[in-house]
Amino acid sequence: MTDHSFEQIRQYIRETSGRIDQALQDVLPADWTVPAKLVEAMQYSLMAGGKRLRPILLLSVVEAFGTSLDRAMPAACAIELVHTYSMIHDDLPAMDDDDFRRGKPTNHKVFGEAMAILAGDGLLTHAFYCLTQCCRDYGLSAERVLAIVAELAELAGPRGMVGGQAADMEGEQGVTRLDQLEAIHARKTGDLIVFALRAGGHIAEASDEQLAALELYGRKLGLAYQIQDDVLDIVGDESKLGKRCGSDEQQNKVTYPYFLGVEACRQMVAQLTEEGKQALRDARLPDPRKLMDLADYLANRDH
Ligand code: IPE
Ligand code: IPE
Ligand code: MG
Ligand code: MG
Ligand code: MG
Repeated sequence: MTDHSFEQIRQYIRETSGRIDQALQDVLPADWTVPAKLVEAMQYSLMAGGKRLRPILLLSVVEAFGTSLDRAMPAACAIELVHTYSMIHDDLPAMDDDDFRRGKPTNHKVFGEAMAILAGDGLLTHAFYCLTQCCRDYGLSAERVLAIVAELAELAGPRGMVGGQAADMEGEQGVTRLDQLEAIHARKTGDLIVFALRAGGHIAEASDEQLAALELYGRKLGLAYQIQDDVLDIVGDESKLGKRCGSDEQQNKVTYPYFLGVEACRQMVAQLTEEGKQALRDARLPDPRKLMDLADYLANRDH
């Protein structure tokens, strides 16, 4: 990718994540009668400055079809709520036992384990409430909203991300095989990315063929994203990542670099990115340029 298109996509990411941050500010209503600590704990992780990759992907799909972004904001917020909950739980002492996330102490370090668990639960359930707002406020058909709700429940739930996290916890060096690790990565990380892309497709009223192509693009990008996350856990810069490196080794995790080494992982990320872009070319969306450039940008990410 040229320096010019790299700079352009960076600018697009900056602008779009600003827009998402703005929408997320209002997602937990100020007049809620809810225990103050719970809202504080939910806000803390939500507004800690994540990259907003999943909502950006969702909005980029909507943009590729030329549909209104306003209509997509509730779903864009919903996927970020689910992702943030998954991070809070992932960091708990019973899971990866991490102290830093998004450049700040992890949720349980600040609010205690009980409130961190509940903040995650609150973000997850509130995400489903947000999804219904696409229908109520922006006239998306009930059929499309039902499809989005069902897909989030499936892709974030036991058959998706939660199942992947469970398999990740059970993985063992010397026991888990590479093909099993691929399935873990596909579920724990790929599935939410696939959700984001398909949800964008539903909002833009994509055809089944277009949804399938977006899903394939998401499968390739999702696997590349987690492989790169594994690589950055070894060679990344903590100040850019906002989380500690070496967490996987400390937890004896089975990762792609554990099997293949860092260099082969880099090649895999590049190859998966090309395959993802090809799936997108085949889909013939009206204007897929942002999605194409995002794929290249992510392949070269350092945080
Ligand atoms: C981190 O997700 C965990 C993975 C699934 C790889 P991100 O890299 O998207 O983290 P944030 O949202 O920017 O904090
Ligand atoms: C997390 O994977 C995947 C989730 C779906 C929560 P990791 O455990 O590798 O993510 P980080 O490195 O802590 O962000
Ligand atoms: Mg983990
Ligand atoms: Mg982790
Ligand atoms: Mg990791």
